[in-house]
Amino acid sequence: MLIATLLCGAVFLSRSAAQEPQGAVPAAGTLRQAAEARHLTIGAAAASAHLAEAEYAAILGSEFSQLQAENAMKFGPIHPRPNTDPSPYNFEGADALVAFAQSHNLKVRGHTLVWHNQLPDWVSKGNYSPAQLAEILRGHIKTVMVHYASKVYAWDVVNEAFNDDGTMRPTIWHDQPGIGVGAGTKYIEQALRWAHEADPGAKLFYNDYDAEEVNKKSDAIYAMAKNFKKRGVPLDGIGFQAHVGLYFDDPAKLASFARNLKRFAKLGLELHITELDIRLSDSSPASLAAQAKLYGEITTLCLHQAKCKLLQTWGFTDKHSWIPGFYKGQGWALLWDDKYQKKPAYEAVHDALAK
Ligand code: XIL
Repeated sequence: MLIATLLCGAVFLSRSAAQEPQGAVPAAGTLRQAAEARHLTIGAAAASAHLAEAEYAAILGSEFSQLQAENAMKFGPIHPRPNTDPSPYNFEGADALVAFAQSHNLKVRGHTLVWHNQLPDWVSKGNYSPAQLAEILRGHIKTVMVHYASKVYAWDVVNEAFNDDGTMRPTIWHDQPGIGVGAGTKYIEQALRWAHEADPGAKLFYNDYDAEEVNKKSDAIYAMAKNFKKRGVPLDGIGFQAHVGLYFDDPAKLASFARNLKRFAKLGLELHITELDIRLSDSSPASLAAQAKLYGEITTLCLHQAKCKLLQTWGFTDKHSWIPGFYKGQGWALLWDDKYQKKPAYEAVHDALAK
């Protein structure tokens, strides 16, 4: 015991003596322990239906310090019926995830209040006027955020509002017909203001994909964020989804990602990697090794940016990953395989955290 303690202490001191107070718990064992020693939150997207699987629950509850609902807090699942119905909301799945998180001492991140996907038909086919849509959205944001106030510490308020070329995506909330508050990013601003009113204690995020590098989309998000910060619009952070493939293991791309994070950090924003997965076209040892390398690199990139506070993967076992269903012929994107065995990618993330 004494020897173990001394050994752990020595390992611990050698890698992080500069940042850590003496006597802190060494970064060993789980991802969660390793991440805590680096003041990083480590999360996974999760679904309540899988909590009944013993291995699923055991890994989620011990290896992570945060969970996020993969689907359960989206508009369709959580608000399936119109407000005229006696029971417009269905909090069941999301509440089960929150209860699991609380009993395992995990933080909960909310996803997502304003998005063009996974809307219920009563919204997308309702033919509402902008004024009616504004009322629907305001009420939705308020009800969901108040329900989870003090339980959900941060929300993806708006998700995927930009096209790849930096123009605004045409959506029901923006201009089809929109909520009637003006063009451009006005509806995002309005959603953030409603969200802040609903739960002043929650951190409010804008979240998007393919905005990791400096490119037209991230330029547009940056311009919006800069403008919002200048005018006191309640925006606390940016979520970078990071759904990538092995193509992303390119020094120019990784350097661009780091440069991008840096410019957002300078605005005083908190940065979250929210939906990381690295899809493969096969599970050969070479592919798994290449994937592990890239997982390690992205982990290190986040650790090197003081404002990067969350590393979250989109699920954690290949058994329940969204990738095979959305990217034909691809999969094997996560840290555990479909039999709940740790993959090389797990070791790479752990090593990067423990360095
Ligand atoms: C995905 C879920 O993983 C799937 O189960 C669902 O069928 C579709 O949505 N960007 C996001 C996530 O912000 O909400 C998406 O999640 C993946 C892409």
